[in-house]
Amino acid sequence: MTKYIVEGGNPLFGEVHISGAKNAAVAIIPAALMVNGVCRIENIPQISDVTLLLSILQDMGAKIRFLNKNTVEIDCSSAHNARVPYDSARRCRASYYLIGALLGRFGLADVALPGGCDFGGTRPIDQHLKGFNALGAQVEVQSGFINARAGETGRLKGANIFLDKVSVGATINIMLAAALAEGSTVIENVAKEPHIVDVANFLNSMGANIRGAGTDIIKIRGVEQLHGGTYSIIPDQIEAGTYMAAVAACGGQIKVCNIIPKHMDCITAKLLEMGVEVEEIEDNLLVRRIGPLMKTNIKTMPYPGFPTDMQPQLAAALCLAHGTSIITESVWSSRFRYTDEFKRMGAQIQVDGNLAIIEGVEHLSGAQIEACDLRAGAAMIIAALAAYGTSEITGVQYIERGYESVIEKFRKLGGNITSVEVPDEDEALSAG
Ligand code: EPZ
Repeated sequence: MTKYIVEGGNPLFGEVHISGAKNAAVAIIPAALMVNGVCRIENIPQISDVTLLLSILQDMGAKIRFLNKNTVEIDCSSAHNARVPYDSARRCRASYYLIGALLGRFGLADVALPGGCDFGGTRPIDQHLKGFNALGAQVEVQSGFINARAGETGRLKGANIFLDKVSVGATINIMLAAALAEGSTVIENVAKEPHIVDVANFLNSMGANIRGAGTDIIKIRGVEQLHGGTYSIIPDQIEAGTYMAAVAACGGQIKVCNIIPKHMDCITAKLLEMGVEVEEIEDNLLVRRIGPLMKTNIKTMPYPGFPTDMQPQLAAALCLAHGTSIITESVWSSRFRYTDEFKRMGAQIQVDGNLAIIEGVEHLSGAQIEACDLRAGAAMIIAALAAYGTSEITGVQYIERGYESVIEKFRKLGGNITSVEVPDEDEALSAG
């Protein structure tokens, strides 16, 4: 088992280079399955979700070749359809994109229901299934698998789809399936996150015809097939926001490099309210906190609102702000499990349904804490770096699903964090 040991209490200084966006990469890899030819994907983050999805493609006959650590060539010309077993799907929520991709390419998909981060509530995919149905697929959920079949021709048919709920996953999944469908598809009430635009741009650069990504309506004219090409993934908005939140909590000054400043506006706005200085210099942000942190209120919303995936990291900083802050989580009904760990560090937080009320304290104290999901894990690193004393963070496999070289990047900023291997508790017990 891996643990992170953190000695907190020091400000952060230096530069951090932001990797490619996880939530774009985990959709673009399944999308590569639809391409007849070689996709060269640049700026791919080195994270465990990417490794897992590439290995699923490899099991389907894809040829995978890394040109360097962040550039991969995927050739799915001779890939074949295969069931995606529970053991793979449970480890990565984005495995659900394989349904759209397999349906588009082969007209059938058998994929185990996805796992991924557990926020303590349900994570429905009814809107994905509604979209596949509208495109003419027969979809059944049986023995933990989603079995989807296109009609007799083996090809989906374009349709008009109105989503009942703004969903990142459903928007991308339907877009994937419709890219190779017969005729035109219009999807309304779609999500507008930067990674949705990125996936549409990827597909278009391989020959798809998708318009309107980034607005409320996406229009897709189905094409017969997609061809190979080269594509570079956008920088990760949430990874950048995580390092910005770390400076808010710890103090100091860092340069967050290789970002798209426009994508950061919803996060920057909150940090400015909290007394953090943020200056845009080309595709970098200079982030500085020398004075005290101020309280603020946050309500999570689909893009361009404040992202739910930044909520725990900002909460870590708000634990140390002057005054009372209120966080309203309106995307996931319960994403506050991490607050129990913060309380063990001396934070004053009260959770009531989808509200967290945070009373700022003078300082946090190091403690043994456990990450319960990816962003909660990132928030725990931030809290531990800001706290006085030593913290031990377990559950770090969640963090490594989505943050490339997190230890090295924080260490370069002066954070005292190390990764150590310790025997599993079960192993230790049986050894003892
Ligand atoms: C994506 O999850 C992200 N994951 C999540 O990031 C992120 O929290 C979420 O979008 C919201 O921004 C990936 O991109 C792989 P949704 P997704 O469908 O697609 C409801 C991270 O930390 N809903 O936009 O699964 C749902 O319950 C991860 O990087 C339905 O009701 O989220 C939620 O309330 C965690 N029916 C809301 O919509 C559906 O069919 C938004 O979910 C689908 C969703």
